[in-house]
Amino acid sequence: MTDRIIPIIRATRATLPPGRDLAAAPEGELVDLRRRRVRDLRISVTDRCNFRCVYCMPKEVFGDDYAYLSRKQLLSFEEIERVARIFVDLGVEKIRLTGGEPLLRKHIENLIERLAKLPVEITLTTNGSLLAKKAQALKDAGLHRVTVSLDGIDDAVFKRMNDVDYAVGDVLDGIAAAAAVGLAPIKVNCVVKRGSNDDQILPLARHFRNSGHILRFIEYMDVGSSNGWCMDEVLPSADVVARIDAEFPLAAIDPNYPGEVAERWRYADGGGEIGVISSVTQAFCATCTRIRLSTEGQLYTCLFAQSGHDLRALLRKGGGDEALRREIAAIWRGRDDRYSEIRTAATALPAAKKIEMSYIGG
Ligand code: GTP
Ligand code: 5AD
Ligand code: SF4
Ligand code: SF4
Repeated sequence: MTDRIIPIIRATRATLPPGRDLAAAPEGELVDLRRRRVRDLRISVTDRCNFRCVYCMPKEVFGDDYAYLSRKQLLSFEEIERVARIFVDLGVEKIRLTGGEPLLRKHIENLIERLAKLPVEITLTTNGSLLAKKAQALKDAGLHRVTVSLDGIDDAVFKRMNDVDYAVGDVLDGIAAAAAVGLAPIKVNCVVKRGSNDDQILPLARHFRNSGHILRFIEYMDVGSSNGWCMDEVLPSADVVARIDAEFPLAAIDPNYPGEVAERWRYADGGGEIGVISSVTQAFCATCTRIRLSTEGQLYTCLFAQSGHDLRALLRKGGGDEALRREIAAIWRGRDDRYSEIRTAATALPAAKKIEMSYIGG
């Protein structure tokens, strides 16, 4: 089985012809220059976080004197709801709240309550630290499910990754609380940094097998300018799958929907499923239907975009919804991004030009 794994992974995304992807739309629908629809709106609700993950908000950069956005720079919940409504009208089917750590945003459940009235899936990515306390309120507000970041199951490794001495047991309590109130299916995301936490792959797999939660391993990306990324620290997903398959045989399964970011695998003995997200070795730009709204209302058509579109200014200019809708549609129509697909050592953006993931949304 192990021999088959690498060819299977390589075949799925590499063979999609550019511009004619699984998510391509019928005539008449809003599409970008590569005929991709807009399906997934990711809203960052704060640029702050109580963790200092080494690959995202390293302490040396995000110290006490770091200039976060001020309160008045943030989009209000009314403004976020207005933008979200327009996006749903344009074809968005899923809204993900991110950050920073979204549960740090005051009264986040009030925003969820507003968004939950829309006919779309509402989900949230969190580091889990406040989940035990907030799971019930989030569920009551109408949140459908959560994705929890977890970069190790060994307490010492986990503390080294979050770099604020946060204990793994508290995140596990948060996951249990989310499961108890039905914020499921719960996905558990581990960013793998070779040499830092790749020894956690098997222990995490053992822990979450048969739990009903979906454990996913993400390739460490060159996003932002703070983490000092280098290719040597990326462990290809093919290796992750091979390591797990050697202990627990795996079988590939079909995506849940066209353009799903994670490749799905199931334990052959019925112990549940895992996923791998190969943003570096098998880019998925051809089917990318995602758009990102930053905390202060900049709209980004790619995680690696070098500039955004100032929706806050448009929102506050006083035009009606129809004008805003036309502006947003025009931004999507002009979209041509595919950074991860065309990134090579030569085309990789210089660090200074990249936007931090904690700002644009994970
Ligand atoms: P669901 O299917 O709704 O559960 O979510 P998802 O599969 O889209 O995954 P999620 O939103 O949890 O994203 C997981 C990780 O994939 C992120 O934290 C990023 O590391 C990576 N990722 C997500 N979207 C993009 C993207 O548009 N570009 C790149 N390069 N990476 C992405
Ligand atoms: N590479 C890959 N994923 C990252 N995230 C943050 N920084 C990176 C990076 N450099 C993602 C992780 C984390 C979420 C909040 O953002 O999935 O769980
Ligand atoms: Fe915070 Fe998530 Fe970034 Fe870690 S990865 S510092 S938990 S936003
Ligand atoms: Fe989408 Fe940009 Fe990520 Fe490619 S690199 S998948 S275009 S966000």
